[in-house]
Amino acid sequence: MEAQYQHALLSRPTADERGREHFIAAMRRFLITDAYAGNETAYRARQVPDFIRAHGRPPASYLEVKQAMAGDPYYRGFSLLNRATQELLWDTVAESIERQMPALMETARSLPAAGGSLTIDPDFELPAYARKVDIHVMPGSFHTALGADDCFAGAVYDRGVYLYAYGGLGADNAALGQGTVDVIRERFPRFVPSRILDMGCGAGMSTHPLAAAWPAAEIQAIDIAAPMLRYAHARSEAMQVPIQYSQQNAGRTNFADGSFDLVVSNLLLHEIPQSLTRQIIKECHRLLRPGGVMIHNDLVGWPTDPFQQFMAEWNAHHNNEPFERGSGTIDWHAACTAAGFGADDIFRQPVVAAYMSEQLGHVGYRGAVRR
Ligand SMILES: C[S@@+](CC[C@H](N)C(=O)[O-])C[C@H]1O[C@@H](n2cnc3c(N)ncnc32)[C@H](O)[C@@H]1O
Repeated sequence: MEAQYQHALLSRPTADERGREHFIAAMRRFLITDAYAGNETAYRARQVPDFIRAHGRPPASYLEVKQAMAGDPYYRGFSLLNRATQELLWDTVAESIERQMPALMETARSLPAAGGSLTIDPDFELPAYARKVDIHVMPGSFHTALGADDCFAGAVYDRGVYLYAYGGLGADNAALGQGTVDVIRERFPRFVPSRILDMGCGAGMSTHPLAAAWPAAEIQAIDIAAPMLRYAHARSEAMQVPIQYSQQNAGRTNFADGSFDLVVSNLLLHEIPQSLTRQIIKECHRLLRPGGVMIHNDLVGWPTDPFQQFMAEWNAHHNNEPFERGSGTIDWHAACTAAGFGADDIFRQPVVAAYMSEQLGHVGYRGAVRR
């Protein structure tokens, strides 16, 4: 695994912590490639014949596959290891960052300014869905700080995601954002946005490629989680990338009508309820100038095969990802036309995931152009 880019805010693990981290990344790679594929072998070789013997036919639905696989020793072993590795990932990174938090905050305070800004709303109300689960088993989810005004969640996410993807997002975790830039350039070769909004920016990892692609543009980035924004701001200043961060809900922002030429999100929609996605599409329509583009990078479909559906549900049930199916199955066309986009101005572009392709078979881009 290539080393992660060492910006000033990145966690500096001890040798022991680094050893654990590397073990986890290697384990993740094994589980998501070879071990993941073994579930289908176990299903076809063992559970389908058993099911046929009992019912005279193979499992016909996701729930029947679930019933068949519940007691399968291979699946149970895979499940246990996958969940345990996820817990180990966050525990290891969180413990290391907890130790470093005072020093990281000191670094954040002493950085030379790079032209960005940070606006935290003291009266901000976190949406109810965000409080209900620790999303992907990340302790405290995105919004929890250890002390007043720290950037714990952002620091944990930056290092944790790098290990989770076993380095597959590149040294600076920017591959998702770069992919979005590439798709925009490919679809709209003459498009040069001057005001850009990144919704659900998290630690800002996918925001930086927007600034590199369109250096003259003003870039606003919003998120509901203050510790993510504090980290994102400090990380951007450390990397000398001027981004204007503010704490806002993507479903209802304080920007004026027609403020942006481009509104993007990366991995936001699978972490929110479908009803909010519809609201966000309406908000994008309000925020875009005529000719402006909305593009969201996330799950763009859901398997139809019952076994693949069962495997896709693993994350919902065992990795606290309750909204993935909703994101994959939303009627994009209907949501966009209801928001005011023209029927001919809506697009959908699946891509082959660069990493975790076994698990992320349905990622891609969905968007629309405002006329
Ligand atoms: C999986 S992270 C993705 C972060 C970033 N876009 C990236 O590519 O690394 C999802 C982010 O969406 C944020 N989020 C969730 N609901 C939101 C909402 N209603 N408005 C804005 N941000 C939201 C979370 O706090 C989290 O930081």
